[in-house]
Amino acid sequence: MQTVQKLFVGSIFHTLGLNKFAHLPQHLLGISPQGKVLFVSPKAKENEIYRQFDINGSTEIIDLGRKFLVPGFVDTHVHAPQYPNAGKGTHLSLIDWLNKLTFPFESKFDDLRYSKSVYEKVVSRLLRNGTTTACYFATIYPNSSKQLADIMNKQGQRGLVGKVNMNRNSPHYYIESTEESLLATEEFINYVKGLKNDTIEPVVTPRFVPTCDPELLMGLSFLAVKHKLAIQSHVAEHVDEVSWVKELEPDCVYDTLVYKKYDLLHPRTILAHAIFLTPQEKKMFEQSKAAISHCPNSNFTISAGKLDLRDLLNRGIKVGLGSDISGGYSPSLLQAQRDSITCSKALAFETQNKEKEINYQQAFYLATLGGAQALGLEHKIGNFEVGKEFDAILVDPKPPIENSSFDVFPQDSIDDIFQKWFYLGDDRNVSKLFVKGKQVL
Ligand code: GUN
Ligand code: FE
Repeated sequence: MQTVQKLFVGSIFHTLGLNKFAHLPQHLLGISPQGKVLFVSPKAKENEIYRQFDINGSTEIIDLGRKFLVPGFVDTHVHAPQYPNAGKGTHLSLIDWLNKLTFPFESKFDDLRYSKSVYEKVVSRLLRNGTTTACYFATIYPNSSKQLADIMNKQGQRGLVGKVNMNRNSPHYYIESTEESLLATEEFINYVKGLKNDTIEPVVTPRFVPTCDPELLMGLSFLAVKHKLAIQSHVAEHVDEVSWVKELEPDCVYDTLVYKKYDLLHPRTILAHAIFLTPQEKKMFEQSKAAISHCPNSNFTISAGKLDLRDLLNRGIKVGLGSDISGGYSPSLLQAQRDSITCSKALAFETQNKEKEINYQQAFYLATLGGAQALGLEHKIGNFEVGKEFDAILVDPKPPIENSSFDVFPQDSIDDIFQKWFYLGDDRNVSKLFVKGKQVL
């Protein structure tokens, strides 16, 4: 009989697919000592569960009361070193924003003391907001990037972490040679693997085509295959970037074709933004099973554009949500979910096509199971299916703080309360946080 280490009793919300939102009222959810979901069952079947599983004096029983469980949020695209700039430079557009604000700032991270202080803050800020899994860009510096992996390890956050690569069109004080870049990347990969933490993995991270020449892209593709790693970058984020890529790689008509040409378009590739994809490029995503990170807060903030999310979903392309700090100003995946709805509605108004809209249940899917699928982690996380690892937020809709961000009224049903949390909630509603069954907050 399997031992139950923790037993939750109460309301659970999760999704089993884009259109499969589920509220499970009055349920039992059991966790194994290894942090996996053992069962999710209506409370009415309690007797059966007690017969099948070893629930004994040492099982921790947690009655949720007014609180409820949701899967931990998955941030599929976030630049950890840019966190101190969140909310700054929002008047700039992409290329100016990179050259005037972002590259000078990231270059500070060769100072390991500074780097550690920022990475500690960003990881804990994301956790406070319910992000149990993050897919990070660090900087070009390998030792600083290792610190980010160490801090995720220490604070208990799951995720992918990449040392950034850039060997062209970058300022003299923030650039690497091809050889340096590839050597440092492999050293970084081996370091992260050496942590022996099965919730943290290295990800190959060419910044974007303008800063990575073909030789570097080929070398990175080789490393990704050799070490069986995920790949992340940016694609078709801004009209200026798209036309720059065409100038730099004239034989590739499309941004995505560059990644395809250098064998970087894999089932575990995640490319951020993808606003200006042509139908031909969308086909490349369909065929390769590569994923897109939708970062609506960033796209509005640095005036990039609106993604046609519905079209990608209709084509069966994997999509997750990203905060894209500090292109985006908000570390909150609740904000990303709301912004994905606003973006879809703006497109629906403009095209007079209501089908373009997504609803809150679909946005919630993108922030949880959709994100897990985009990162190739759906066999481990994203919802509470039996056998998955338990990554969860315990949401308290009525935190014991006077200035909580919304009010619950007697006539509100539990479904109303979920929606109020979705639209009005913030980090004060994160009562506890779990990664692989372990409480991290
Ligand atoms: N394209 C290349 N680098 C970046 C970055 O740091 N942020 C965003 N939003 N786009 C990029
Ligand atoms: Fe980005």
